[in-house]
Amino acid sequence: MNYAVKSELSGRRVLVTGGAGFIGSNLVRRLIGEGAEVTVLDDFFTGRVENLRGIDSAHYHLVRGSVTDAGLVRELVSQAELVFHLAARNIIASTRNPYEDFETNIGGTLNVLLAARDFHPQRVVYTSSVSVYGNPRYLPINEDDRISLLTPYAVSKFSGEGYCQAFYESYDVPVVVVRYSNVYGLWQDPQNPYCGVVAKFMQRAQLGQPPAIHGDGQQTRDFTFVEDAVEATLLAALSPKSEGEVFNVGTGVETSIEALARAVLDLYGLESAPIYIDRRDIDNIRRRVVNIEKARRVLRWVPQVTLLTGLRRTKQWLETPEAPDRLSMA
Ligand SMILES: NC(=O)c1ccc[n+]([C@@H]2O[C@H](COP(=O)([O-])OP(=O)(O)OC[C@H]3O[C@@H](n4cnc5c(N)ncnc54)[C@H](O)[C@@H]3O)[C@@H](O)[C@H]2O)c1
Repeated sequence: MNYAVKSELSGRRVLVTGGAGFIGSNLVRRLIGEGAEVTVLDDFFTGRVENLRGIDSAHYHLVRGSVTDAGLVRELVSQAELVFHLAARNIIASTRNPYEDFETNIGGTLNVLLAARDFHPQRVVYTSSVSVYGNPRYLPINEDDRISLLTPYAVSKFSGEGYCQAFYESYDVPVVVVRYSNVYGLWQDPQNPYCGVVAKFMQRAQLGQPPAIHGDGQQTRDFTFVEDAVEATLLAALSPKSEGEVFNVGTGVETSIEALARAVLDLYGLESAPIYIDRRDIDNIRRRVVNIEKARRVLRWVPQVTLLTGLRRTKQWLETPEAPDRLSMA
């Protein structure tokens, strides 16, 4: 990140909802590294205090609470110059309990935006998902391609986007939306039953077990290393040209789940083949890869980490004492 952006974060009061989660904790580390004063709001549904391990508690303030608590959200947003809204029930939790997803992902986002309307932070970053594209008609997917909501999670994430747009248009709330694509990397917790495929494959590989693929493995995704996702998120928060905009955050590289499984096997020097297990309800997206041209052009953001490098770095991190007890199976 360039020097101007660094100096822009120094001393800034920042609220990160969901800051004890996977992406949130990486964002918090980075923000603190850039000199920001950070408040984390998290209800620890999937987040963990351990994800903030190693960060000097003098540098951040941790609030245990829910984004569904409108009064608490108002209080915290009123003190923030920048708001990063990551708190959400993820796709698996959401599929199990769409009502809770509705309350958190839609209701929580509305609370953040209502508070932002009243207290005027300089930017609100909303973290959406490429799930909103469903099964795309064209690849790579552009931001203005068809929206197709195939899961309650996609509905709630897109509703949050809709509220962002409405609050931008109706009340001048300075929002920006990033649509993340399959983020993986350090601090992703394979013990968390809701976590992503990369962490699951690596957890099994650590134990000498082959990756277990849901379905035939020919489904594809665009895997984004978490540091790249964090960088894009910061640039979205700080760019003068990003207000009211939506950005895909991926790599533009399409990888099949089977190819990912083989890459993990290679990395761990395992000779076994992946195993194939039942397809799940949520596995209804066949192919996905996003066009990142807009983020490249407007944010001047380019992902730096290839999948193989990202996997290698994640494996190295899993082998450090810093990684919380990651080896036993959930
Ligand atoms: N990981 C990905 O690949 C990915 C892809 C697309 C979008 N996203 C979005 O990025 C954001 C962060 O995802 P993540 O992968 O870090 O997941 P995560 O589950 O690790 O993080 C979400 C955090 O929100 C917290 N949370 C949940 N409900 C809450 C509530 N009611 N009040 C306060 N905190 C609450 C959780 O405890 C957790 O710490 C989410 O908004 C998610 O929808 C992630």
